Amino acid sequence: MLTSEPGKPIRVALLGCGVVGSSVARMLVEQADDLAARIGAPLELVGVAVRRIGKDRSDIPVDPALFTTDAATLVTAADIVIEVVGGIDPARELLLSAIANGASVVTANKALLAEDGPTLYAAADAAGVDLYFEAAVAGAIPILRPIRESLAGDRVAKVLGIVNGTTNFVLDKMDTTGAGFAETVAQAQALGYAEADPTADVEGFDAAAKAALLASLAFHTRVSGRDVYREGITEVSAADMAAAKEMDCVVKLLAICERSTTPDGEGVCVRVHPAMIARTHPLASVRDAYNAVFVQASAAGELMFYGKGAGGDPTASAVLGDLVAVARHRVSGGRGPGESAYADLPILDFGTSSTRYHISLDVDDRPGVLAAVATEFARHDVSIDTVRQHVLTDPETGEQRANLVVVTHRATEAALAATVDALAGLDTVAEVVSVMRVEGA
Ligand code: HSE
Repeated sequence: MLTSEPGKPIRVALLGCGVVGSSVARMLVEQADDLAARIGAPLELVGVAVRRIGKDRSDIPVDPALFTTDAATLVTAADIVIEVVGGIDPARELLLSAIANGASVVTANKALLAEDGPTLYAAADAAGVDLYFEAAVAGAIPILRPIRESLAGDRVAKVLGIVNGTTNFVLDKMDTTGAGFAETVAQAQALGYAEADPTADVEGFDAAAKAALLASLAFHTRVSGRDVYREGITEVSAADMAAAKEMDCVVKLLAICERSTTPDGEGVCVRVHPAMIARTHPLASVRDAYNAVFVQASAAGELMFYGKGAGGDPTASAVLGDLVAVARHRVSGGRGPGESAYADLPILDFGTSSTRYHISLDVDDRPGVLAAVATEFARHDVSIDTVRQHVLTDPETGEQRANLVVVTHRATEAALAATVDALAGLDTVAEVVSVMRVEGA
């Protein structure tokens, strides 16, 4: 491990000066004395890499001469590089270059870590430097350090998280107002909660990258973003929200990381999808753009971590916490934990994972239809918990149909998918209106 000379400033380079970067820069300057006291050496901001120099940054209390577009040179002149640019390239090359030059890295880059974390870990190991990334998952919430360090002596069984604030805001508003998805996303954009292009959030890519990081740490196993089953919230309708209400549930986009045992042995399943969750579950009370992560561990039992998952200052809090940890290592020697992937559990096929399901079907309202529907569930070994029926009358023809809502006991995804295919093929089933997972029970 590279240690600094006592009292010598620790050189910090900042890559990115957007919403998070500008908060980091401001906190570095405004809290310089406290940070120096906590670390045992002062921090010296040696440069801030930006895309354009000409922009007005007069609100950021940083010497304008420190702004540079030459990130490649900047990373070779620092003891610690903070990266808050995001994306895969050029972030990967810049961080590898920083590490090769002996710098420790603090990054918020979930996409890069979920895509190529092992390469960064290996480079950090080879160079004897730190790689910290608390801000990559759930913004201000301390969740990675607790899993990586505080729970290192326990056995994590499951991590269930609301790790995307944009989608939580949208689903919460749909729940409270009864509005549809498109209308609510437009509102969220107008309020600045959703990006102009909300794809990464609403399609679940952001949550899937975070789920991969959580699962890797929780299960000591490499999990990449590609290993995560992903469904976003674009198909969630006002009718789904109403159905959830009838079940005394709310709909949340959940990141679910599970260690499970199949006939072939133990493995890991990681998935991101909307799901109904009982209003009594602690995650159901996570409103607006807040995040929360619920952890089940053998000895610790159930733990919940809650807070702001995005935004400049909250995310900068996590970045600065990592910065202090990494800088302390520079002062007193030692390193934080490196990659822990020794368990090397297989990634289980999504079809083997199991949960409960809420299925809504429009069917003909005549004798034998319910029996035929129930037979398909039985044939595929999916056990029914409850069935409810509403009679629907076509306002134009006066023809009667029935809407059946079936809630199952726990079944595998493969069995459920086969059941739904079979139901869709019955000539008495007009439409499989929706299938929603029911979690947390
Ligand atoms: N876009 C993310 C969210 C924040 O809505 O939670 C950054 O990961």
